Order: sequence, then C-alpha cells, then structure tokens
Amino acid sequence: MDIIVSASLLACDFSNLAFEIKRAEDAGVDWIHYDVMDGMFVRNISFGEPLLKSVGKSITVPVDVHLMICDPIRYIDNYADLGADIITFHYEAADDPQAVIDKIHSRGIKAGISIKPATPVSAIQPFLKSVDMVLVMTVNPGFGGQKFIPDTLEKISEVRYLIDQTERDIRLQVDGGVNLETAGLLKESGADTLVTGTYAFKANDMPEAVKLLREIV
Ligand code: DX5
Ligand code: ZN
Repeated sequence: MDIIVSASLLACDFSNLAFEIKRAEDAGVDWIHYDVMDGMFVRNISFGEPLLKSVGKSITVPVDVHLMICDPIRYIDNYADLGADIITFHYEAADDPQAVIDKIHSRGIKAGISIKPATPVSAIQPFLKSVDMVLVMTVNPGFGGQKFIPDTLEKISEVRYLIDQTERDIRLQVDGGVNLETAGLLKESGADTLVTGTYAFKANDMPEAVKLLREIV
C-alpha cells in the first residue's frame, strides 16, 4: 500500500486556518486530519462541527476526521454531512463499535477504529471484517506535541499481522509523535498512514519536511 501522510490541523495556526490548509496541501500531504475532542473522552477540547463547516470549503484533499469523543454514534451524521471522507472513532468510547461502523458505512464513507496505547489489539479484532482503517494511537490522545510511546510499535506489528490475515484493504494509521526519528520504525512495524501535526506544521520548511518524511518510509 502507498504511504499516506495526513496533516493534523491541531498543530497549525488557528488564526489563519484556510492559509494553513493550503500550506499543508501545497507541501504535498495526502489528507487533512481533523481532531475532534470533547473534554470528556480526552482532557482537552479542540474544535468541532462549526469550524469544519467553515474551513471544509478550503480543503481539496480527503478529510480524515478523528473523533476523540464519548458516544461517537451521535455525531456520525453531522460529520458525514460536513463532507468527511473517513471517520475514525475510539473503540473505548463506543458501547457498540459495530453499530458505529455500520452507521458510518450507511453514509457511504470509510470507517476507522482506534485504540489508545493501553488497549489491547485483541479488542478490535472482531471489527477487522468491516473497518477500512485501524488507528493505533502512538501517544495518549488529547494533545499534540507529545512524545511517541515506543511500546506501541509491538501493537502496530500485531495489527499488521491481523490485517494481512484478513486479505482486506485496511489502512493502518498511526498518530502521535510522528517525525523523522519515529517514521522509519513505524513503517517497519507495518504502518502505512502517518498523521503528522507538530513535525510538519512547526517545520521551518513544510514541503521539505513532508518530502523527508516520505523518503524515510
Ligand atoms: C492527539 C491527536 C493527534 C495530534 C498529533 O490526540 O490525535 O492527531 O495532533 O500531533 P503530533 O504530530 O504533534 O504528535
Ligand atoms: Zn488525531
């Protein structure tokens, strides 16, 4: 599978969002990653629907929505209406993960399921028959700019193995602390979709930073 680089807007300059989106697209990212936090599932509140309604018009690449919110099924229709191309929710936040996957698919968009660093890979195994992406968090979700947790590499390998067993087309995304030091290890462990926030947006030269990341993986 080709490597996908998804730029997390959490790390960008919010006072210039349309410009920041264009900057990321011009730098060659494949997707825009939109981190929704509710202050309940994670200890931070980021942004939600009204902001995507405004800035969504500026995004020309696929929008990768990462819901770090309780009871995600309640919000699927809203994000589908706002043009999400893929919606990822947390296994830990859903009473019935299969119902969330089915709801996302009923809107004709791709479904991702995510696990926090402390959640075992076995938790998501039953859903590999239907998801389009697995997101293994490589930091504890809630904040950008955190340090990558090395123990997650083993989980990525486990997920890679399980995905390969299914022979389905499932992307393996990683999110948190992705940079030039970690990207190679993540790729070796089986990741094919890299979220980058701080590394890309805070780089002096974003096109060069994205290019270097792609060269490593
Ligand atoms: C963390 C978010 C990430 C975050 C990644 O909870 O889900 O998408 O923005 O940021 P960096 O790349 O700075 O670790
Ligand atoms: Zn994210």
